[in-house]
Order: sequence, then structure tokens, then C-alpha cells
Amino acid sequence: MTTKKLVVFGLGNRGNIYATFAKMYPDKFSLTAIIENDEKHVEYANSNFSGVPVFRDYHDFLAAKIPADIVAIATQDEAHEEHAVAMMKAGYDLLLEKPIANTLKGCRAIYECGKKYNRKAVVCHVLRYTPFYSTIKKIITSGKLGEVITINASENVGYYHQAHSFVRGPWRNKEMSSPMILAKCCHDMDIYRYLMDEECKTVCSFGDLYYFNEKHAPEGATQYCSDCPNAKTCLYNAQRLYTTDDYLWTANYFSRGDNPKEQILKDLKHTQYDKCVFKNDNDVVDHQVVIMNFAKGKTACHTMTAFSQKIYRDIKIHGTKAELVGNMEDSFIEVRYFTGEVEKVEVTTSGVTVGAHMGGDFFMLNSLYKALNGETVEGITYLDVSIESHLMSFAAEESRLNGGKPVEITKD
Ligand SMILES: NC(=O)c1ccc[n+]([C@@H]2O[C@H](COP(=O)([O-])OP(=O)(O)OC[C@H]3O[C@@H](n4cnc5c(N)ncnc54)[C@H](O)[C@@H]3O)[C@@H](O)[C@H]2O)c1
Repeated sequence: MTTKKLVVFGLGNRGNIYATFAKMYPDKFSLTAIIENDEKHVEYANSNFSGVPVFRDYHDFLAAKIPADIVAIATQDEAHEEHAVAMMKAGYDLLLEKPIANTLKGCRAIYECGKKYNRKAVVCHVLRYTPFYSTIKKIITSGKLGEVITINASENVGYYHQAHSFVRGPWRNKEMSSPMILAKCCHDMDIYRYLMDEECKTVCSFGDLYYFNEKHAPEGATQYCSDCPNAKTCLYNAQRLYTTDDYLWTANYFSRGDNPKEQILKDLKHTQYDKCVFKNDNDVVDHQVVIMNFAKGKTACHTMTAFSQKIYRDIKIHGTKAELVGNMEDSFIEVRYFTGEVEKVEVTTSGVTVGAHMGGDFFMLNSLYKALNGETVEGITYLDVSIESHLMSFAAEESRLNGGKPVEITKD
């Protein structure tokens, strides 16, 4: 296998994972350019990836005609259409961050562009590559469950993650980014489609923004947490959340690097991330359910909720011979055979050195490397399949906005 040339477009949180992977595994990827227009991130690029050319404007990158096997598009959702189309037109294949685009029109435009210019795009549906879901897929393929009939699963967003990303952060407002069922759950839609191995035909959905609004503000709450008399008692106090050890990654959005907590607090004051979660301009939901009907009449039900202590997913799969029960936090998956036996199948993330998503990022990049070298790799799909998860998400949003009305999914 040969080393593949990688360009990172957008050296933010996600792009940094791809660039770091290349730095750690130079036999797999060589980082040939970075496109980044934020001065702080350019500085970070120059000190951490020295020798790699950094372009502030992607047009300059295109003019430089730098060869690459893959361009990782890791800019924000609303820019994907412009950036993906420009790169594919110029002849590059893509590792494209999800969502493909933040509008249905944008998703279709990228899909059509890929067909027109014969370009490939691997969408970062990282869950497929996690040991958790790839073990589940193997169990299904082995036939142990019989035929899969129903899937019931939850995406537990985590109370602090909801507050950070979907109340204060870039995905808080659907006009500015996208509906939450797309931003957060296109991964899950992709997983249902992958595990069912069938196209989803119809969805119904209900959901709302119930809690993170003015109605639930504690008495005397101020616009910024740093001025608020409820700072000590409020669960969502920004100063506490952004300096809690387990949540420090969220501070990267305004205080780059391994900053001490005093610096984080300074950088936080009176920014968007210091705003009260009950007095923001967020309009995305904090809970939503989606009911799916697949091509042969099989069904799945997805619950997305902000209200969990941790970030995790759980799943129950009902087959004709056994049921499977899994929680991403555990190191095993249980197969409960109808004959009475219970099998515990081990799940391990050992060997993962970089990235997040319970090994998803790490194994996705390893799979991508193999696929670029012409190997057949389980889980890798291209836009023709990846777009289905987005069609399911947009249909779910349409249904939710229409009181749960069934919405049919049409690919073309
Ligand atoms: N696959 C996943 O599981 C997953 C998880 C989180 C986020 N995402 C997606 O990844 C993407 C990036 O998210 P993030 O959290 O890394 O965001 P981020 O804001 O940290 O990073 C985006 C980067 O792109 C740069 N940028 C924006 N416009 C640019 C331009 N025109 N030219 C050059 N640089 C530009 C920004 O300066 C920033 O450094 C988003 O689409 C997000 O939804 C995917």
C-alpha cells in the first residue's frame, strides 16, 4: 500500500484530527496542504504542522494545483456546498464532513456534482467504523439474530453537550446551521439504513424545543452567566461547564489549545458561550423521535434527547431468532437467544490513538487509507448511499413541522 496525499480544508476541531492522524501515521497520509482562514488557527497550523503550506483562501490553493488523493472538507456545515463543489470541479476526491450540506438542495447539488465530474466523496459517518457498530454489523451478518425486524435506539446528547453545541454553539439555530435531526442524527439515520441493509421509505417524527427557553430561566437570570446571581446553583453555568475536566474539549471553540482554566475563563467572558442557556437565540429541538418504515415493512424508532448525564447511544435490535442489546458505554454487546442462552460479545477500543467517537474517527481514517489503496473495506460508502441518511433527516424534519405527518422518501 502507498502513502496517500491529504489536504485539510478547515483546521478546526475536526480538521485537526485528520491533520494529526497524518502527522502520527506518515506512512499512511502525507499532509500536503492546509486551507484555513482564521489567524489563530493559521498560527496553530504553522507551529504544529511546520513545513506544510497553509492557504488562507481556497482559490489560491486551487491555483497552486497541488496534487492530492483526498481533500478533507472540515469547514462549517453552511460552507460545505461551496467548498465541496469547488474541490470536486477541480478534480479532487473528498472526505466530506457530515452533514453533506445543511440544506436538501445543497446535498443534492453535491451529489449531482460528484456524478457529473466522476468524483468520490466519503462522508464522515464515523459511527459505522466504531468497534461498537461494526461488531453489531458483524453479529447481524453472521445470522445469529435471524432476520432483523425492528430497531429501537437512542442518542443521548448529554446535557452539557446540548448546552454547548445546540443552545450556545454553532448548531443552535437552524437558519444558521441545520435542523438538529440532521446535524446530530444523520449519523443515526445512516446506522439504521446500514444495519437494516434496506432503504427507508417513510418517516414520521415528533419533537420540540421544550426546555432551553425563557420560560425556564431561573429568577433574576442575566444575559451572561458571568454576571448571574444563579451562578452557583445553575446546572448550565458556563464558567463551571467550560472548566470541568471532562468537558474541556468544548472550550476549544473560543480558547484554542491546552489553555489553563484561568485563561479559559478570561476568553469566555461575555462571549456567545457565556450566554444564559435560557436567553439565547437557539431554536433547534431538545428532544425528537423518528419512526421509520423500511422497504420490506421493517421498522425502526429513534429517540434523540438532550437530557442525559453523559453522551452515549444505546440500541436494541429484534431479530427472528434473538435480540441484541447494546450500550456504547459498555465493553460488551449482549445477544439474547430465544432458546435461553445469553452471549456477551466483547467490544474493545484498544489501539485507538487519535480522534473521538469511541474509535470512529481513528478506524474511519484507517479504512479510508485502505479504500484509497483499492482494498474492499466494510462500511465505506460514497454519496449515493450516504445521501439517504440526509434524505431521512430532512423528511423527519418536514414531518415534525407538520405534526408528525408521514413523509415519503424519494432519492431522485
Ligand atoms: N463527523 C462527525 O461526527 C462530526 C462531529 C463534529 C462536527 N462535525 C462537522 O465537521 C465540520 C467542522 O466542525 P468543527 O467542529 O471542526 O468546526 P470548527 O469551527 O472547529 O472548524 C471549522 C474550521 O474551518 C475554518 N474555515 C471556515 N471557513 C473557511 C474558509 N472559507 N477557508 C478556510 N478555512 C475556513 C474555520 O476557521 C475553522 O478552523 C462541521 O460541518 C461539523 O458539523 C462532524
